[in-house]
Amino acid sequence: MNSIFTRRSVRSFLPKEVEAEKIEKLLQAAMQAPSAMNQQPWEFIVVRGAENLEKLSHFHVYATSMVGADFAIIVLCNNERLKSPLAWQQDLGAATQNLLVEATELGLGTVWFGTAPHQPRMDYVREFCDLPEHMVPYSVIAGGYPKDPDANHFKNRFDPSRVRYITE
Ligand SMILES: Cc1cc2nc3c(=O)[nH]c(=O)nc-3n(C[C@H](O)[C@H](O)[C@H](O)COP(=O)(O)O)c2cc1C
Repeated sequence: MNSIFTRRSVRSFLPKEVEAEKIEKLLQAAMQAPSAMNQQPWEFIVVRGAENLEKLSHFHVYATSMVGADFAIIVLCNNERLKSPLAWQQDLGAATQNLLVEATELGLGTVWFGTAPHQPRMDYVREFCDLPEHMVPYSVIAGGYPKDPDANHFKNRFDPSRVRYITE
C-alpha cells in the first residue's frame, strides 16, 4: 500500500539520527508540490539538536512531541516570491503534505504542528529563527525514526456518503 494511505502522525521517536540524504529527499519532495501560478513561495529551515528542538517545542502547547524528535522542519512563505498572494497557504499546505508522505516512504515518522494563522505561534517561530519581515512561518513538522515500527499504518477513512458524482 502506498505511503499516502499509511502515513500517520507519529509523536514518539527512536534516538537515531536521520541521514542528511533523507532530510534532503524530504525537501525535494516538498518542492515538487503544485503552486498557484507556479509561484513556489516556499522556503524551509531545518532544526536539529535536542536543545534547539526543546526550545522550539514551546511555540505551541500541542508541540511537546517535538522533544525526542530528530529534526524539525519549518515551512515558510517568502512574501517576495508571491505572484498569486491569496494562494500561499494552499501552496504551503501541498508542500507540507508532500514532505509528510515522502517521510513515510523513507521509513520515517512525522507530525505536522499547526502554525499559521495563529499569530502567537507564528511570532514565536519568527523570533526563534530571527526571521525578516517578508518570511512567514506556515507549518512546523517534527520527525525521526518512529519508536513503534507499526506507527505508520492504514486507517480507512473513505466515506462514500461524502461523494457526489455528476454525470451527463
Ligand atoms: C493543520 C494541522 C495542524 C495540526 N496540529 C497538530 C498539533 O499541533 N499537534 C499534534 O500533535 N498534531 C497536530 N496535527 C496532526 C493531527 O492531529 C492529525 O493529522 C490527525 O489527528 C489525523 O491523524 P493522522 O495524521 O495520524 O492521520 C495537525 C494536523 C494538521 C493538518
